[in-house]
Amino acid sequence: MGRDYHARPQMEAGAAIEVQGLTKRYGSHVAVDGVSFAVERGEAFGILGPNGAGKTTTLEMIEGLRKPDAGEVTVLGTPVWPDPTRIQARIGVQLQTTSLFDRLSATELLVLFARFYERADAEERAAHALQLVGLESKAGDYAGRMSGGQQQRLAIALGLVHDPEVVFLDEPTTGLDPQARRNLWGVIRAIHEERGKTVILTTHYLEEAEELCDRVAIMDEARIVAMDTPAGLIGRLDTDARVSYTDADGEHAIYTKDTQAVVLELLETARTRGTAIGNLAVRGPSLEDVFLNLTGHEFRE
Ligand SMILES: Nc1ncnc2c1ncn2[C@@H]1O[C@H](COP(=O)(O)OP(=O)(O)OP(=O)(O)O)[C@@H](O)[C@H]1O
Ligand SMILES: [Mg+2]
Repeated sequence: MGRDYHARPQMEAGAAIEVQGLTKRYGSHVAVDGVSFAVERGEAFGILGPNGAGKTTTLEMIEGLRKPDAGEVTVLGTPVWPDPTRIQARIGVQLQTTSLFDRLSATELLVLFARFYERADAEERAAHALQLVGLESKAGDYAGRMSGGQQQRLAIALGLVHDPEVVFLDEPTTGLDPQARRNLWGVIRAIHEERGKTVILTTHYLEEAEELCDRVAIMDEARIVAMDTPAGLIGRLDTDARVSYTDADGEHAIYTKDTQAVVLELLETARTRGTAIGNLAVRGPSLEDVFLNLTGHEFRE
């Protein structure tokens, strides 16, 4: 009941999330295979991986929505299983926007959710959540009349309205245009900065993970293949740049610590042979290259 969130003990011991040997099978298919990690309180943690990697399944087992076949999950010091209701008031989960009711305004929906969590200050919380996601001007609008980006933000506000300590966002910016995606990055940063909430998000977008996350777990085929800060992951690649170009044979990419030598040689060779090269580009290594290096396949097939 109406806990005073300003007086929340910030110094509680232990990680926000601890996952050990988490496993989920669907028939003979292993969707999540012995995943272990810990997220510190106040951290923004990302799970990055291609379609079907097991990101959503992992998140849902932590949120208490999908029962693991094996492994342990602790959220804020409390084991999630077998009774997820014990942590539900302390976590916030972004709902799929497709499931938003269409007969209530943004404010009505938010107040309803806040009351569901027995918040005595439901109206204030609703207003605060709208402000946090930048939807104050849409308070009276129905979700169905909002743009995709606005619906996405409303879905996030609904997950925040009870002032949870840990916020789960499953692909919060998928389907948005680049401008709306950048706007939402600002919202996610604001959530993270607000009284040091812990944020755990999944994404398909490497630049999103780089931009928003203190640490990133790269997931591929049901397992975590690497976990570190974005800079730490990129630093493990023994390369300074990726030089790419096209010629008559197609596309090529060269990773190098000596960009100048590689580019000069490419141009020299092309001139000697009288062949043309196009789309010559040099860029620093990114998480995309980390993924390729770790898994042997491209992030986007
Ligand atoms: N209810 C289910 N029944 C059977 N198989 C499932 C079920 N849910 C997920 N899977 C399978 O488990 C694997 C992991 O799915 P999951 O949704 O966790 O992946 P994801 O990383 O979230 O993918 P995406 O990026 O597409 O959201 C996939 O191969 C998927 O087909
Ligand atoms: Mg998913």
